[in-house]
Amino acid sequence: MTARNHPVVEAYAAHVSPAFVKLLGALGYGRVFVRAKGTRLWDHDGREYLDLLAGFGSMNLGHNPEAVIEAVRAALDDGAPSILHVGPHGPAADLAADLARLAPPLTRCLFSTSGGEAVESAMKLARAATGRTAIVYADGGFHGTGLGSLSVMGSRRMRAPFEPLVPDCHAVAFGDLDALRKALRKRPVAAVLLEPIQVEAGVVVPPAGYLAEARALCHAHGALFVLDEVQTGLGRTGALFAYQHDDAVPDVLVLGKALGGSILPVSCALTTPAIHDRAYGRVDRFDLHGSTFSGYALGCAAARATLRAIADHGLVDAARARGERLLLGLRSRLAGHPFVRGVRGRGLIVGIELGPTAKGGVLSRLLPGVVAGVSRQVFGQWLALRLLEAGFVAQPASSQWNVLRIEPALTVTDDEIDRAIDAIATILGEYRDLGALLADAGARLGAQAIGGFGF
Ligand SMILES: Cc1ncc(COP(=O)(O)O)c(C=O)c1O
Repeated sequence: MTARNHPVVEAYAAHVSPAFVKLLGALGYGRVFVRAKGTRLWDHDGREYLDLLAGFGSMNLGHNPEAVIEAVRAALDDGAPSILHVGPHGPAADLAADLARLAPPLTRCLFSTSGGEAVESAMKLARAATGRTAIVYADGGFHGTGLGSLSVMGSRRMRAPFEPLVPDCHAVAFGDLDALRKALRKRPVAAVLLEPIQVEAGVVVPPAGYLAEARALCHAHGALFVLDEVQTGLGRTGALFAYQHDDAVPDVLVLGKALGGSILPVSCALTTPAIHDRAYGRVDRFDLHGSTFSGYALGCAAARATLRAIADHGLVDAARARGERLLLGLRSRLAGHPFVRGVRGRGLIVGIELGPTAKGGVLSRLLPGVVAGVSRQVFGQWLALRLLEAGFVAQPASSQWNVLRIEPALTVTDDEIDRAIDAIATILGEYRDLGALLADAGARLGAQAIGGFGF
């Protein structure tokens, strides 16, 4: 069976997203992934791929990790209630206690399932605890796609069709302390919501000291300092939480993605007892936030097993070491490439920024706007496709297509890191002038067009 007439492709196009399947067809994607384990994926033809995306940074333990599967099996077998909001629930209490030990003084936990929901619970908490309404967020930020989290979405394209959104949310430039200071002086602010690294905006790492100073500014103005570590948390940056690099303990810490052990949706907002009490500490307010599946038993079992696995296998240190190998290896192999503007990141979040440089040749000098435009629209997707053909899964940042993000499972080996570096450097090495790259991209589109853009 070819991918083109694979029943999954037909059903997905008919019932889930025809436009997505069409886009993949235009690119000549041509595969259906059917199996996953650890750092590997397999397609419908049995071909193996090294996964450098890991579910957009949500599979810190890799695909289908045995320890989490066993913990979920055990939870299924033990007969405890899965959902219980009529009294104290053991699985939720146990997970909350585990999390409390990891992030002092944030010892209270609001559970949810998706990252976006957990962000919204942090926004609600901030309003309820401070009695203020304004939320300050950063340009480029990505916090989810619900109406609340879209209100603090830094990508115009993603939010525009859904406006008007939650009022009194204000954007400032990421990494700019003066802008933040001004925003805090202008009005009473309930919370400042930031990511320690903006992955979807193109793996943007703020200047050293930014988070710690932002925290101090928040406290000077009575605002809560909220960090969204949905993608950076749980070891990915080489610290259990990215705020630890800067000693910038937040008032509210948002976790999601990897917390569910790569198989179940689990997210939370952690905060201090004092803040939680102000918002929900009275009997007439304790139920102002909640949802049916918050703290469900299977998710809690998966999350506890995840935290144990991260500690037992030294995955935080592993992320730091493998991340450094990845960053330094890419920097060394891509140094001086005419279309690599930089390689940056921390731990196992690394971004390769593609685009015109001073060495970019005649086209870059004559038509810098065209080259920049092509880079933004085509470059990252083209490289992702070439990598796919070479047996590697990777994607550009969702709001910045000229940045290829590399964020494999924290269980990735040195050898796998070296293979990834070599594949990226080899492919980019073949295209040192834009004409060759555009010719290749054009030929692919042409071939797909002749084939009717079939998948
Ligand atoms: C930093 C950050 N926050 C929040 C979210 C939203 O999480 P979810 O897709 O689980 O709602 C994401 C998703 O990529 C994210 O990267």
